Amino acid sequence: MIVTKKLFSIEDEELQLHNYRVGKMSSRFAKFVGLHEQMIEDIAICGSLHDIGKAVIPKRILNKPTTLTNEEFKQIKMHSIYSYMILREMGYNEKICLISKYHHENYNGTGYPDKLKEKEIPLGARVLRIVDMFDALTNDRIYRKAMNKKSALFLMVKENHLFDPDLFSMFKDFIDIAMVI
Ligand SMILES: [Fe+2]
Repeated sequence: MIVTKKLFSIEDEELQLHNYRVGKMSSRFAKFVGLHEQMIEDIAICGSLHDIGKAVIPKRILNKPTTLTNEEFKQIKMHSIYSYMILREMGYNEKICLISKYHHENYNGTGYPDKLKEKEIPLGARVLRIVDMFDALTNDRIYRKAMNKKSALFLMVKENHLFDPDLFSMFKDFIDIAMVI
């Protein structure tokens, strides 16, 4: 949070909060899944910095309330590579950097930047892919209002080809438990 504050301006507060929430939730989910301690720590660090590369993307594109052009979307998609480069520059280990690079890879191979599929995608990035989308859907964006948790989960079930099936099945239990607490 302290590091991201230096890179993001005031109007990017929601982006900082998104990073913060994803870091917290992904480490809680990683614990729920039973991942080992080092992996939980890596996921927590990377989760809280995964979108740091968006600091390099022009604000007019990041905060555009209407549909992006292909060129603008191409630029947005570069953020995961920028995150990787920034985290490397900051001295984080390669494992953490790779989680950020691959947090938009889809399990069915349709993601970016390298169209990795299934277990080619690092485990931490597969965890982040799920939590990142859930957080994005359940919070306001400049171009749409937040969904409630139930609707977000329903939409993610329809898009479940994007996620590691074992992790996603556990995520549904995780959210069910989180919703009743
Ligand atoms: Fe991202």
